[in-house]
Amino acid sequence: MALVTIEAMLREARDGRYAVGAFNMADYASALAIVRAAQDCQAPVIVQTSVKTVRFWGCAAIVAWMKEIAGNLTVPVALHLDHCKDLDVIEQCIAAGWTSVMIDASAKPFEENLAVTRKVVEMADAAGVSVEAELGEIGGVEDDKKVSDETAHLADPDKAESFCRGLHLAAFAPAIGTAHGIYKGEPRLAFDRLEEIARRTDVPIALHGGTGLSDDVFRKCIALGCAKVNISTQIKYAFIDAFVDYHTAHKEYEPLKPLAAQIDRIRKEVAEKIELFGSAGRAAASAR
Ligand code: 13P
Repeated sequence: MALVTIEAMLREARDGRYAVGAFNMADYASALAIVRAAQDCQAPVIVQTSVKTVRFWGCAAIVAWMKEIAGNLTVPVALHLDHCKDLDVIEQCIAAGWTSVMIDASAKPFEENLAVTRKVVEMADAAGVSVEAELGEIGGVEDDKKVSDETAHLADPDKAESFCRGLHLAAFAPAIGTAHGIYKGEPRLAFDRLEEIARRTDVPIALHGGTGLSDDVFRKCIALGCAKVNISTQIKYAFIDAFVDYHTAHKEYEPLKPLAAQIDRIRKEVAEKIELFGSAGRAAASAR
């Protein structure tokens, strides 16, 4: 089917108390593996691109791959731009066929973040594209953005409510104590804050920094209103490790074999996450 926005799939997920997995692709093979996993599980899925990936391949190639991959399958697939602070890139992605974009102006003061986000919402609404925005600052490294432990700060519930009021967002990403990349210690999440923000904003919450969170933490966050769960670092590890492991074991110079191993590994790990997030078997409900 054609690529869809994240709006309906996330509302359906939030109301059904499950989450849609949002997995970062690096190339055609990883995008194919992610979507095949969703098809295996009959689940809606979000394929995300970092800005770095968009710049590496160019918009046209990524959209062509995604349309071809999703067009041959029956599950709802969204193409989402992850953490972007560059309005030109957002504009290019919307024009090229992305169905969803994330504006990340979280490093700016509140009023500026709100103004930039509002501008992106106007641009996206005109094209029928959905928007995610961030408040507070999520720690760790994502793409070219590095947020130190000292700079990272949680989203304030009063500010979250006033940020989301009157703003057409499909997903809201408040910083609640998770971080991008590999956790150094046990992550300490502000569950009370998550619960309050989800209740007061009434927008499906996007959980960032999914790699390394325990199954219990995922379940708790989803029960409290997280309807989109982002996984990037785990996919990067599967991408590299599967290729290297295959080559180490077989010492062959036939690229299609380690490539197949790479697709199998990502497909398996994504399917496991989809099962955990509760979105397996929800494709039909999500597509309504
Ligand atoms: P991880 O790299 O920690 O999985 O985080 C992914 C993410 O939140 C992308 O925005």
